Amino acid sequence: MQIQRVLVFRIGILLLVHYTSCIMSQLSPNFYDNSCPNLLSIVSSTYQSLAARDNVVSPSTLRLGMHDCFIQGCDGSILLSSTTVNSAERDYVDNDIPQQAFDTIENIKRAVESSCPGVVSCADIVALASLEAVRFLGGPSLQVPLGRRDSQTSSVANANGNIPSSNLDGDQLISLFASKGLDASDLVALSGAHTIGFAKCRQFDFRLNGQDPFYDQQFAAQLRGQCSLRGGTNVVAFDPPSPFLFDNSYYRDLQNNRGLLLTDQVLFVHPQTKDLVNQFAASQTQFFQAFATSFVKMFSIGVLTGNNGEIRNMCDRINAS
Ligand code: HEM
Repeated sequence: MQIQRVLVFRIGILLLVHYTSCIMSQLSPNFYDNSCPNLLSIVSSTYQSLAARDNVVSPSTLRLGMHDCFIQGCDGSILLSSTTVNSAERDYVDNDIPQQAFDTIENIKRAVESSCPGVVSCADIVALASLEAVRFLGGPSLQVPLGRRDSQTSSVANANGNIPSSNLDGDQLISLFASKGLDASDLVALSGAHTIGFAKCRQFDFRLNGQDPFYDQQFAAQLRGQCSLRGGTNVVAFDPPSPFLFDNSYYRDLQNNRGLLLTDQVLFVHPQTKDLVNQFAASQTQFFQAFATSFVKMFSIGVLTGNNGEIRNMCDRINAS
């Protein structure tokens, strides 16, 4: 029975990987070459002017990209607003994404629409804006194939269980990522995004009661002080010396037991992820290469292509509404 279950699980994963590579082959880096030849420069210049004005923009936009993909696939469903008859995924309590990220996507969409009306999806703009966020903060220059279409649905119920909670252990993280077609190396590489940005104390304060064997004690004391200031809503940087620099210092934080979330620190504990943490801590080049590969995989989760979905006119509502 156990063997049968393992076999069914492995076949499921193989099918998912096959499905993902088929989907990736429907996306193309040249997708808008004829219909919107200046797309990349429009996105890039609009993004840079927004990000330069507000340093919340880059971390929150990258996180929005991850959440779009993990909930119902990379289909722009995270951008849809709730209506009188539907609660959208954007309003899921653990999404909690700053408004600046949504405004960034809407502003880029407006700029793109004025040059190429009706052809570029919001889902592709999310992927391109995420890539800009990484580059803006000093990370690798990424490329992502395009051609995603936008969903016509978004439901708060889909969010539950699809974005990882910050109290998962290593096995739970690995299996959640596997359910998205991502393996343990993708998990380690993509978690490196926590080299930028901030988390609210409520996401990790359960670790501060002295029970957590993984925290460096000095770091824990420092966090207790920071979190007592305004309680659970106070925010703390993932990588305090450089929260706006996309580098590999996140992995050195983990080696020093200074991973902010439990889900960060367990990567340095689990036998399937610990070696990679050490490798990325030692080589930023290796981290950047792995991140670039895993980024493309993440942005191919559950995409809509061909005649599925639509190209929304505005990112926060479907066309028919
Ligand atoms: C491995 C599982 C992951 C968990 C459990 C997790 C959880 C979290 C949590 C709890 C926060 C803080 C939210 C807040 O308090 O406002 C956060 C922030 C962030 N996450 Fe993750 N995350 C994960 C993976 C990822 C991935 C794969 C990416 C992107 C590739 C990502 C990008 C970010 C960014 C950039 C921030 C900072 C956001 C900001 O400062 O506004 N995370 N994450």
